[in-house]
Amino acid sequence: MKKRIRVGVLFGGRSGEHEVSLVSAASVIKALNPAKYEVVPIGVSREGRWHVGSKALKRLSDVLEHGTHVIPSVDPQGPKLIPLDSRQLQKAQLKLDVIFPVLHGTFGEDGTVQGVLELAGIPYVGAGVLGSAAGMDKDVMKRLFRDAGLPVVDWVMVLRWELEQSPGRLRRLIESKLDYPLFVKPANLGSSVGISKVHNRRELGPALDLAARYDRKIIVEKGLDAREVECSVLGNDQPEASVPGEIVSVNEFYDYEAKYVKEGSELVIPAKLSRAQTRLVQDLALRAFRAVDCEGMARVDFLLDRPSNKLFVNEVNTIPGFTPISMYPKMWEASGIPYPALLDRLIELAFERHREKERTRYDYKS
Ligand SMILES: Nc1ncnc2c1ncn2[C@@H]1O[C@H](COP(=O)(O)OP(=O)(O)O)[C@@H](O)[C@H]1O
Ligand SMILES: [Mg+2]
Repeated sequence: MKKRIRVGVLFGGRSGEHEVSLVSAASVIKALNPAKYEVVPIGVSREGRWHVGSKALKRLSDVLEHGTHVIPSVDPQGPKLIPLDSRQLQKAQLKLDVIFPVLHGTFGEDGTVQGVLELAGIPYVGAGVLGSAAGMDKDVMKRLFRDAGLPVVDWVMVLRWELEQSPGRLRRLIESKLDYPLFVKPANLGSSVGISKVHNRRELGPALDLAARYDRKIIVEKGLDAREVECSVLGNDQPEASVPGEIVSVNEFYDYEAKYVKEGSELVIPAKLSRAQTRLVQDLALRAFRAVDCEGMARVDFLLDRPSNKLFVNEVNTIPGFTPISMYPKMWEASGIPYPALLDRLIELAFERHREKERTRYDYKS
């Protein structure tokens, strides 16, 4: 029998999206073909501690509570995980062939974990340090989109200290540049946490204060009356785009509640778009993927302005939701790649990228 590939699945994390990650990771683990892969679940607690699971720990929450406490190693030659407590792990478990970070948001999707995995010299699924970091920061991401000639919604970036020092002046500055309604967002977050739709001046102050709780950087965007269209991208240097899908939110916008709590939001795949619009979405999705220097996978989200019928690139998500009902795998399924095959492909892409990197020289002799 061919040797199985040992995949470390990273989940949880120091992020407002900790819970969501658990659901995504459970689906990924379930769908990884056991004939091909040996899964090592690695739970990252809310405090940022890493725990490795064993066969006895069935649920991911048990891994977080009772798994062996380890620290990730940055040694390219040695084992990738080092146990810190007395409970013994099988030595083999500490050596991993590849890591699948199923971490959403801060300290997982933002390039920090990717940096550790780079130092460790281990292949991993998804975007590298730069793509992850750039895709996480809504201000930097939008600047890269704009630079690549992609259509983006007008925005203003403000820093927390500006808000604290002169809130009145800041509100006037925002109002001089953008008309209501506005969207106020922390720059580095996801799952709509800290995001408000602002209808008038009265709502602007509290929305800025809320966003400032989650980040030192805030973006204020012109609010559109828009349909929400999404497209999945898969690949490294020659990525491909899926059939687009559409989200119809049960709430006024696709907020945290509409995403995870309340039932009634609809996912429509394929999105009801003309052929030309579909092609445009796919083309823009690939260009957005490249603009941010993504690798492996990303879900690119669009706003389709109803009054003008114009498409705007809203964001890329470098570690999209991975539950069986999540848009990323669903859109691939509709494009002919079932969930388990998608995971196979993502792991292959991780190895491919790693091999590509190994071709790069890190020494110099004149
Ligand atoms: N400029 C905008 N106009 C209209 N709706 C918006 C705008 N920006 C965000 N939204 C709504 O807010 C949701 C969350 O915003 P988004 O930028 O996607 O942040 P997150 O990274 O948290 O998903 C979107 O899915 C959409 O429903
Ligand atoms: Mg979004």
